[in-house]
Amino acid sequence: MNYRHIYHAGNFLDVVKHFVLTTLLQKFHEKENAFSIIDTHAGIGAYQLDSIQALKTNEAQQGILKLLHSPHDKSLFENYLRIIHAQKPGIYPGSPLIFRAFLRSQDRLWLSELHPEDFKSLNQIFHKDPQVKVFHQDGYVSLKALLPPKERRGLILIDPPFEDRHEFKALTEGLYESYKRFSTGVYMIWFPIKDLKPIKKFYASLRELEIPKILAVEFLRHQPTIAEMLNGTGLIIVNPPWKLEEKMVPALEALLKIFEFKQGYVRLEWLSEEFSFKKVT
Ligand SMILES: C[S@@+](CC[C@H](N)C(=O)[O-])C[C@H]1O[C@@H](n2cnc3c(N)ncnc32)[C@H](O)[C@@H]1O
Repeated sequence: MNYRHIYHAGNFLDVVKHFVLTTLLQKFHEKENAFSIIDTHAGIGAYQLDSIQALKTNEAQQGILKLLHSPHDKSLFENYLRIIHAQKPGIYPGSPLIFRAFLRSQDRLWLSELHPEDFKSLNQIFHKDPQVKVFHQDGYVSLKALLPPKERRGLILIDPPFEDRHEFKALTEGLYESYKRFSTGVYMIWFPIKDLKPIKKFYASLRELEIPKILAVEFLRHQPTIAEMLNGTGLIIVNPPWKLEEKMVPALEALLKIFEFKQGYVRLEWLSEEFSFKKVT
C-alpha cells in the first residue's frame, strides 16, 4: 500500500468529488428519517495543506485554493465551501469530515481505512464520536458486513486508490454484492480518467449488472487523447436523486471555467437500459 492521499488532497479531483458528495447529501436532508453513510476508503479525514507532503506536489494550488481565490461567482458551491471554511486554518477536509458535517443526531457514519498509519490518524479524529465508527478493514469487506443499514436510507462512497490494476473489476463486483443487499441505497464510485479503454470496459460490465439507475459523470480537463495522462475524473452514481443533474451540471461547468480548463468538458451518460440516453455538454 503506497498510496497516501495527503499528496493529492484538495486537488481538482477532490473538489469535483467532494462538491458532488455535498449535493447528494443535501438531498438526504429533505426527509427527517435517519440515514447512514459508508465511506469504504476513507483516508485520514483531515489534510494539512502546508505539510511537506502536500507541498511536494502542491496539487491543491490548482484545486481548492484556485476555487477559494477565484473571482468567479461561487454561490453554486455554497454548501461545499461552508464546510471548507469551517475547518482549522490550512486544513482540507477529506470525505469523512464532509460526511460528518451533514450528520444530524439521528444519522450514522461508518469509515473503513486499511493503511495502518492512516487508520490511526482517522481514528484519532473520531474515536470519541458516538455517531461514527472507524474500521481498520478492507472497504469491500465492510460493505458486505454493514449492508443493508437498519435505517434503509444510505449513501455509500467507494473511493479506492487505483493501485491495483484489477480495481475496476473489484468495483463492479463490490457494487453487485452491495446492490443485492441494499438496492435503494445511493452509491457513488470515484475513478480517474486516463486511458479510455478500461473505462469503456468498466461501463460495459456495469451495464451487465442490470441495475436500473446508473449515471456516469465525467469531468475532463481536455480530450483524453494521451492514455498515460490524468485527463479527468469520473463518478458512477447509482440511484441518483431526482433532478441531481440540474444542480450538478451547471456547477461542474462553472468549475471548468474556474480551473481554466479551456478544452475541458462535462459528459453524462446513463449506463442502464431504462434511461439509456447520452448527454454531452
Ligand atoms: C483516494 S484515498 C481516499 C480519499 C477519501 N475518500 C477522501 O475523499 O477524502 C484512498 C484511501 O484508501 C485506502 N485504502 C487502500 N486500499 C484500501 C482497502 N482495500 N480498503 C480500505 N481502504 C483502503 C488508502 O490507504 C487511502 O487512504
